[in-house]
Amino acid sequence: MSLLPIKSFSKVLVTGAAGFIGSSLSQRLLDEGCQVVGLDNFDPFYSVKLKRHNLVSLQLDSNFKLIEGDILNEKLVASLFAENDFDVVVHLAAKAGVRPSIIDPESYFDVNVRGTLNLLKHLKSTTQTRFVMASSSSVYGDNDKPPFAESAETSLAVSPYAASKKACEVLTHTFSHLHGIPTTMLRFFTVYGPRQRPEMAMAKFISLVDAGKTVPMFGDGQSARDYTYIDDIVDGIYRSMQRCDHYKIYNLGNSTPVTLQQMIECVGDVCGKSPIVEQFADQPGDVHLTFADISLAQSELGYSPKTSLRDGLANYRRWAQSHLLADELSIW
Ligand SMILES: NC(=O)c1ccc[n+]([C@@H]2O[C@H](COP(=O)([O-])OP(=O)(O)OC[C@H]3O[C@@H](n4cnc5c(N)ncnc54)[C@H](O)[C@@H]3O)[C@@H](O)[C@H]2O)c1
Repeated sequence: MSLLPIKSFSKVLVTGAAGFIGSSLSQRLLDEGCQVVGLDNFDPFYSVKLKRHNLVSLQLDSNFKLIEGDILNEKLVASLFAENDFDVVVHLAAKAGVRPSIIDPESYFDVNVRGTLNLLKHLKSTTQTRFVMASSSSVYGDNDKPPFAESAETSLAVSPYAASKKACEVLTHTFSHLHGIPTTMLRFFTVYGPRQRPEMAMAKFISLVDAGKTVPMFGDGQSARDYTYIDDIVDGIYRSMQRCDHYKIYNLGNSTPVTLQQMIECVGDVCGKSPIVEQFADQPGDVHLTFADISLAQSELGYSPKTSLRDGLANYRRWAQSHLLADELSIW
């Protein structure tokens, strides 16, 4: 295996551009001199104020255009493709999060699967446009053969969210096969850092420890996640946009799993306080371990995550303290 050849691009559609990863990627694309059209419906899953805040720096750049709308809106998506020649579509809009998907599986399938279908249907006539989409480490389910390679079993999802992402992998393969759409699916492993979704564990834990409140720990603390810093993920997405060709799946992780207990200790270290922890039962839908084998992304994309958990958490905390309002910092 060797690095795939680079293809340039200048105009990009980013769906989910107001979200955590979408706004971070859009900033990098603008910094690289690209034109970015950002599509987002400001889904109220978490604070819409935060999403608006994510866009402030992007909207200062004349190369950024925001379209407020839904990926399920047929007319809107049709007109976006009719009016623009996108070199790459980066599809990040989705209902994210494992636990809420158990309560509301319909909306996860609507947005994640039918929304993706709507984009692909309209994209298929423009075969030069590359399609890069967020899948998730959750497709590996309760895999017990770490590290997880892209070739591992992924049909045994344990949450509707994971099932919806697996369905998207199959759907995008179908459209790539039938219509020659150059497609890359990226399996992200627990992404964290500035602009992070506030309902994600690390964001909650930092605000709880800083406030001297109790941290809820689900399970015995030995479950582990392959936490991956946002800048490393953005770099991996950027590299995959340059090298997207025929249908391909890549893991974008850190390949260094950290137990929940270690993560809580690291939060305490960064906050300079000993966390007070209360243990609860395991949550349904959660997996015991995520652990990315990143050798394929390393050899074909030149992907190489660089940020340690401690540095990444400290960066997140600095960002949260200067960007989040008091009511958003004390969400628990
Ligand atoms: N953050 C992670 O750890 C992680 C891990 C694996 C996969 N992913 C995937 O990466 C992508 C981005 O995740 P994120 O953490 O930035 O989440 P996010 O919720 O911050 O961003 C998603 C954005 O999509 C928008 N959106 C939702 N439904 C929409 C619709 N119908 N039409 C238009 N926009 C819509 C939301 O308003 C939001 O701004 C998602 O596809 C997610 O499933 C994230």
